[in-house]
Amino acid sequence: MTLVSEPAPGVWVLRTPHSAYVLTAGEDGPLCRHWGGPVDDESALALAAVPLDVARGSWESPVDGREEYPSDAGLRFAEPALALRFPDGTRTVRWVLDAAEVSEGHLRLRYTEQTRPLRLTLHYRVTAGHDPIERWVSLDTDVPVEVLRADSAVWCPPPLERYRLSSLHGRWGADSRLERAELPAGTVRLGSRRTTTSPMHNPWIALDDGTATETAGEVWTAALAWSGTWHIDVQRLPVGRVAVNAGAAHEEPVASLSPGTSYVTPVSYGLYSAGGFGAASRAWHEHVRTRVLPHGDELRPVLYNSWEATGFLLDEANQMALAERAAALGCELFVMDDGWFGARVADNAGLGDWTPNPARFPNGLGPLIARVGELGMRFGIWVEPEAVNPDSDLYRAHPDWVYHSPGYPRHELRHQLALNLGRPEVADWVHGWLDALLTAHDIAFVKWDMNRPVTDPGPRGDLLWSTAHARNLYAILDRLRRAHPTVRFESCASGGGRVDLGILARTDQVWPSDNTDAADRLLIQEGFGQLYPARAMTAWVTDAPNFLTGNRLPLRFRFHVAMAGVLGIGGDLPAWSLSDQAEAAALIGQYKRIRPIVQHGALYRLRSPGSSAAPALAYLSAAGDEAAVFQFLSGHHYGEPAPPARLPFLPPGTWEDADTGARYPQAFLATHGLDAGLFRNHDSAVTHLRRV
Ligand code: GLA
Repeated sequence: MTLVSEPAPGVWVLRTPHSAYVLTAGEDGPLCRHWGGPVDDESALALAAVPLDVARGSWESPVDGREEYPSDAGLRFAEPALALRFPDGTRTVRWVLDAAEVSEGHLRLRYTEQTRPLRLTLHYRVTAGHDPIERWVSLDTDVPVEVLRADSAVWCPPPLERYRLSSLHGRWGADSRLERAELPAGTVRLGSRRTTTSPMHNPWIALDDGTATETAGEVWTAALAWSGTWHIDVQRLPVGRVAVNAGAAHEEPVASLSPGTSYVTPVSYGLYSAGGFGAASRAWHEHVRTRVLPHGDELRPVLYNSWEATGFLLDEANQMALAERAAALGCELFVMDDGWFGARVADNAGLGDWTPNPARFPNGLGPLIARVGELGMRFGIWVEPEAVNPDSDLYRAHPDWVYHSPGYPRHELRHQLALNLGRPEVADWVHGWLDALLTAHDIAFVKWDMNRPVTDPGPRGDLLWSTAHARNLYAILDRLRRAHPTVRFESCASGGGRVDLGILARTDQVWPSDNTDAADRLLIQEGFGQLYPARAMTAWVTDAPNFLTGNRLPLRFRFHVAMAGVLGIGGDLPAWSLSDQAEAAALIGQYKRIRPIVQHGALYRLRSPGSSAAPALAYLSAAGDEAAVFQFLSGHHYGEPAPPARLPFLPPGTWEDADTGARYPQAFLATHGLDAGLFRNHDSAVTHLRRV
């Protein structure tokens, strides 16, 4: 299959295993002619020749809802993807196509501005065997220009009778909540103006005509690979079409370019699936695991994290005690959370002073790291490099390093201010101390947290705020990864505040939410899994009652929910009963047996926790010969038994329960299903099936 073809001059077809994308570049600029199922060249040419009718008279633009990259000029009323302002105040531009280049799966459309030395390149890339289409834009200038807006892409699904929008929204403790609602006329703006991706919305959407299900129907979905402020504007236009603009920044401007410089947008991905929401998610997961994550083929270890157990009251002795219990249960990585450095004995002091607290670690981190190693585990550490407590030596030395407007109040959140990472000296300092920490110690894992969204950007902070902060964050992570190639990183921002395809290109897993209540987590994980694979989803088992919800859920249920991702333990282990410890050790053992299926397999959502009291999901191994089936009862009434989970996706053959030896023919599992015998609220089961 040719990834990109040009069946006639000015007509290009991008092909993926299950979709095609047809665009043309003529007098009207680049237009989307088809984004959907596969087409041959003859159909592509027919699609390219469909007239741009404006059935509603001459009051509308014929190109609205079809343009690949509209500028803020010309006959158009939809939102522009690109808005520029020149020093004399003019904004008008007109792009002339210079060249179209195709190399492997990469199409470049090169434009020059009609009268100015300014070049715009639209990039499209498809990868053999993968369904997502990558798009981004670069702008090169030989004149000064202010970039007010530069989106990564505009995605135009075909005209549908109605549109339903799926999106993820939330807040602290309630991250990645899936919402599906009819798309109203006008513009729905998702986004963040907090410097982090933020839990308010995640940069992902899906559109369908209201009839798609988990297993069937057409779905058009898009994502943005960016960890700073951002927007996805879903416009339902008066012409009946929909255009989805995805880009960095929330308000203008995006960049200020001097002659000889360029601006490159982050990547936006688009994916079409004819197999419903489930097939769309599986296509995303496969791509993220194999093309986005730095080491997606690795199996992530079972980690222990100290946060919920010791909070800010940690010291060498209690961390060693936790490590001993964690190792005995079978944990492989011990992560010490917040509170190990400076005067950080509570959340109001010490953040920014990254040397071990001498009262808590009189001989530094060495003895604890050595003990963790003796116990057969690797050592990981929590850091929050982008924020500072005003009560810290760092702030006393560099009060000007934080975002602020001179002469105006400095607003604290959790007693913190945000460091202006857009400033080169701040970025150098962050890189310097982290590099030194990783050089001096045998550290295998860094949990990179960010709990202070930026406000008060200060003079010219608009630029720093919108793009420079995230770019410098990426640069620091890239440098650290190059210098310390065995270290793995976890992204956290008060939970799932920095989860996106940009950060996942330079971290190994993410913390989806500070909410560790397993019943809530079923919903959070379902939202997270719309785009992101289980391989990247850290999930801890914590104590009962849960610190946030007060729920007392059975240990087994808490484990089973966490075992659907990258299992971690976050409980106060010395307080666990001997029987709980024995059960935990057995469940960790089971997790290690199914881990390759969960972390590298294909996800099938069987019953949604959003609509069913008996949620169920399964993973099928990459080879199709093993499955892990997760079944729960959560919030059900009257002791009704959970219906068996039907497994129509299993390949033919006889399947055996790896733990009990029970055997089932595939058609039985597809039609009757796997009965786990659940009838009490918060009963749960994980079944490991093998094809015999
Ligand atoms: C944030 C993180 C938590 C924990 C605390 C430590 O809230 O999301 O997991 O690391 O900070 O202060």
